[in-house]
Amino acid sequence: MSSPLNDSVLQNDWHPVAIASTLTNGSMMPSQCLDTQLVIWRELNGTVHAWEDRCPHRGMKLSMGTLQADSISCPYHGWTYGSEGRCKFVPALPELREADLKAQVKTYLARERYGLIWVCLGTPAEDILCFPEFDDAHLRKVWCGPYDVQSSGPRIVENFLDMAHFAYVHEGILGEKSETAIRDYTVESFDDSHYGSGIWAKKCYAWQPRSNSLATNGSHVEYTYRVVRPLTAILTKEPQSQEGFREAISLHLQPLTETSTRVWIILALTNFESSDEELRTFQDTIFLQDKPIVENQQPLRLPLIPGAEMSMAIDRMSLAYRRYLTDKQLRYGVVTTNEDRRC
Ligand code: FES
Ligand SMILES: [Fe+2]
Repeated sequence: MSSPLNDSVLQNDWHPVAIASTLTNGSMMPSQCLDTQLVIWRELNGTVHAWEDRCPHRGMKLSMGTLQADSISCPYHGWTYGSEGRCKFVPALPELREADLKAQVKTYLARERYGLIWVCLGTPAEDILCFPEFDDAHLRKVWCGPYDVQSSGPRIVENFLDMAHFAYVHEGILGEKSETAIRDYTVESFDDSHYGSGIWAKKCYAWQPRSNSLATNGSHVEYTYRVVRPLTAILTKEPQSQEGFREAISLHLQPLTETSTRVWIILALTNFESSDEELRTFQDTIFLQDKPIVENQQPLRLPLIPGAEMSMAIDRMSLAYRRYLTDKQLRYGVVTTNEDRRC
């Protein structure tokens, strides 16, 4: 498998690992990113940490140990690490002072933004992505998922950008077989102080029998899609039949391995009537229809080799996304050479 170390793009990007409110002060949880086992934990004062989930002594998972007074003790021999990851106590040699101990857990950067905890395993090339709809006080925010998917992140992003499957995968909700034609739409790259940089598709129209949890009739819906990071895409949708209704759906992927991914979704929308549960149920329905599709594409990693898969004009956004990943020299979760026959 491709080593995450070979992919400096993802190594130096921020990835979501948890909903911030689920990690209470003085608690820890195991996680994973780019094939690296992590323990995510919070000090009593609220500071968040991300460490490699591996004791330097004999490799035991620290997340199975105990967190007490901002120190983690390994469950195997009790070595205890302070908030900087330095060993400060070895029970079998209690006479050793902290200054004599050399063991150091590998630590990573961790931050909170958009109600999620983000980690960077390398040196951040940029700040956490721009999601201006989240900062719009007129929009309500709801967190959906996470959904664990046995596929690569790029296959999941590409599916998120695809409209031609609505009538087949989401029939009766986001599409129907009598309205399968997709109108032409525009795709361009952007670099913007408000939205960040990446590629976007605009003036994308779909006929949807039930475009959101409030919709009672079918409607033409105008979509915009933007890709702002290799593993982040945000769409906005405005149904013509619901005046003033606005909704942004942001997709943030946590790459567990090259072909397994944890999916986090944040809604920012004008629907203040439905309960959180109703909004999540609607999103669950849609996402769980997409899941068997992306888990059964071959290969699971997204082919970036021109001509590896047949495309049509309607696939313009998907092709732009593939070029975007190629230009960034992404290596993880994609196929870049004909010799590479892994799934
Ligand atoms: S493996 Fe952690 S203390 Fe020995
Ligand atoms: Fe879908």
